[in-house]
Amino acid sequence: MLLTEIDHVAIAVHDLEAAIAYYRAAFGAEVHHREVVERDGVEEALLKVADSYIQLTTATREDSPIAKFLANKGEGLHHVGYRVENCAEALAAMIAAGARAIDEAPRPGSRGTTVAFIHPKGSFGTLIELVQE
Ligand code: CO
Repeated sequence: MLLTEIDHVAIAVHDLEAAIAYYRAAFGAEVHHREVVERDGVEEALLKVADSYIQLTTATREDSPIAKFLANKGEGLHHVGYRVENCAEALAAMIAAGARAIDEAPRPGSRGTTVAFIHPKGSFGTLIELVQE
């Protein structure tokens, strides 16, 4: 088994502050980490749940993939991040099993992680992110 943990569940939102306030009011959740990832055009707020995170994500520019997702599908579940020991190994295994990779090689993610994305077409409709800490 290559997956060691659910790293995060990413939820696309229009208004990050409103979403953070909602999770605080509803669950008492506090922001554990916050980051703008320029190259992906996103701002993320991570709320810790045990060893996993809820990742509230919004767009920082109109041409980012999250902006397109929000325009096409609206707010909601965007992707699931699975934690792995070795991102390159897990990516190769997924490609060998017929997955469609978005990233052909692992690349830097937020929090200093190494990540690779797998296209939802070929993975039963779910955008998958492999996350190596
Ligand atoms: Co993610």
